[in-house]
Amino acid sequence: MPLSRDLIDKAKAAARRAYCPYSRFPVGAAIATESGTVFTGCNVENASYGLTICAERNAIFQMVAAGGETTFDVIVVYTPTPKPTAPCGACRQVLNEFNPAAEVYCVCDGPDVIRSTVRELLPNAFGPQNLG
Ligand code: THU
Repeated sequence: MPLSRDLIDKAKAAARRAYCPYSRFPVGAAIATESGTVFTGCNVENASYGLTICAERNAIFQMVAAGGETTFDVIVVYTPTPKPTAPCGACRQVLNEFNPAAEVYCVCDGPDVIRSTVRELLPNAFGPQNLG
């Protein structure tokens, strides 16, 4: 699936909703499911720093919580930075759960884009298949 303007706009809008008073590093994510439904997420921090949730996981959890779909085809991650930011390790593991073949586009305010797949970001992943 190609990188769409709509997903970029939705990831940017999500980043504007980030709650990040500690890092001041807003992140927005937009995922599209197989049916074309879009879910978004932003990072939500906490005074107890370790409870912070990243934008990517937030978007995935929105999909699951909405019910019906548990596979996404593409995720766009946006940061208002000169260079793109790729998902953290914890998010890669969660993305892998819901489609290792999904495409990942990391965009920013500069021209660079990181284009990848979940599988490329997390090779030899532990996943549902390991549990039989
Ligand atoms: N963060 C994300 O939301 N996604 C990433 O891929 C990297 C990090 C958030 C977590 C924290 O709120 C802030 O960015 C700084 O680490």
